[in-house]
Amino acid sequence: MGERHEGRGFSTRAGDRVSVTEMDYTTLGSTGLEVSKLCLGCMNFGSDAEWMLDDREASKEVIERAIEHGITFFDTANVYSRGESEEILGEALEGRREESVIATKVYGRMREGPNGQGLSRRHVLEQAEASLDRLGTEYIDLYQIHRWDDSTPITETLSALDTLVSDGKVRYVGASTMPAWKFAKALYEADLDNKERFVSMQCEYNLVDRHEEQNVLPLCRDQGIGVIPWSPLAGGFLADKYDRDEDTKQGRAATDDRTRGRFTEENWAVLEIVRDIANEKGVSPVELSIAWLLHKPMVDAPIVGPRTIDQLDGTVGALDVSLTEGEIERLEAPKDPVWSRSIGDV
Ligand SMILES: NC(=O)c1ccc[n+]([C@@H]2O[C@H](COP(=O)([O-])OP(=O)(O)OC[C@H]3O[C@@H](n4cnc5c(N)ncnc54)[C@H](OP(=O)(O)O)[C@@H]3O)[C@@H](O)[C@H]2O)c1
Repeated sequence: MGERHEGRGFSTRAGDRVSVTEMDYTTLGSTGLEVSKLCLGCMNFGSDAEWMLDDREASKEVIERAIEHGITFFDTANVYSRGESEEILGEALEGRREESVIATKVYGRMREGPNGQGLSRRHVLEQAEASLDRLGTEYIDLYQIHRWDDSTPITETLSALDTLVSDGKVRYVGASTMPAWKFAKALYEADLDNKERFVSMQCEYNLVDRHEEQNVLPLCRDQGIGVIPWSPLAGGFLADKYDRDEDTKQGRAATDDRTRGRFTEENWAVLEIVRDIANEKGVSPVELSIAWLLHKPMVDAPIVGPRTIDQLDGTVGALDVSLTEGEIERLEAPKDPVWSRSIGDV
C-alpha cells in the first residue's frame, strides 16, 4: 500500500555476527511513517503459553538480530504474557528509540474485575500509560485496538485515542481483526467527528487463512489503510514442519489448538504446492510463504513470529523471492476464501 524503497540495516550491537541483510522499507498505508517491510512480532517473547520462548535474554537476542537485519518495526500488545512482552521489547530497544517504530495494542484482559479489559475511555487511557511504562518510552508509534468492543461505543474509544495523540503519547492509531462493517463504521465516525482515523489494519492473512480477502482487505485497499498481516506462517504450519500422516507432538502445534486446527485436507493441498514451488525456485517454504504476502499490493509488512535467531535468519530471505503471476495462481488454486462471522470474532 505504501511506497516501497530500499535501504540497509542500521547499527549492529552484537558485532561478531556477520552480514546485514538488505532490508526494504515502505510507508505505512497512506501515512509518511517509514517501516521495514518485515515487522517483528513479539508475541513469542513471554511465558503465557507452552510454545512461547520463556527466556528474556534469548528473546532480546532475537530482537537484536532483527535489528541487524534492518528491521525497525516491532509489534507487541499489553496482553502478551500480561505485559512481559512489552517489557522485553522495551529493554531490547533501550538506546535505540529513535530508529524504532513500536506498535502495541489494547483491549485484552489485564486484570480481573470491572474495567480490567476493553476499549472504554477509562481502560484505554490507563493501559496506554501502563504500556508506555513497560516499554520505557514516552510515545507509542502505532497504538492499535486489538479487537472490537461491543460494550463500548466506538465514538468513546475514538475520543480516548484522539486524546492520546493530542497529548503526544501516541503517533498513529490502528486496528486489528474485526468485521469490515465495524471497521468502516469506525472510519466513518472518526471522519464525522474529526477524530484521528485508523491508519492500519492488523489481520490474520497467510496462504491457508485467506478469509480477509472477503472481509477487510477490499476496504483497506479502498481507504488507503496499511495492512500488516499476523500469523504469516499460519502458526508454523507453512514452515513445513508437520507431517500429515503423523499426529504431531512437536512445535507449536503440540500445544496450540489453533495451529493444529489448520491440519485440514485443503490446507495440506496448499502446503504441497508451497513445497513444489519452493523446490523449483530453490527457496524454503517459509521464504516462499512470506514472499507471497509481500507480493500483495495492499500488504505493507507481514508481522513475522520467529522464536529463534535461526528461524529469523531463515525468514528474511523472503524479501529476495520473486513470484510470477502463474506461481501465485497455483498457490491460491486449492482454496476459495470465505468470510464467516465466527472467524472475525476469534
Ligand atoms: N492482532 C492479533 O490478533 C494477532 C494474533 C496473532 C499474532 N499477532 C502478531 O503477529 C505475530 C506473528 O504471529 P505468529 O507467531 O502466529 O506468526 P507465524 O509466523 O504464523 O507463526 C510463528 C511460528 O512459526 C514457526 N516459525 C516461525 N518462523 C519459522 C522459520 N523460519 N522456520 C520454521 N518455523 C518457523 C514457529 O513455530 P515453532 O514454535 O513451532 O517453531 C513460530 O512460533 C505475533 O508475534 C504478534 O505480534 C497478532
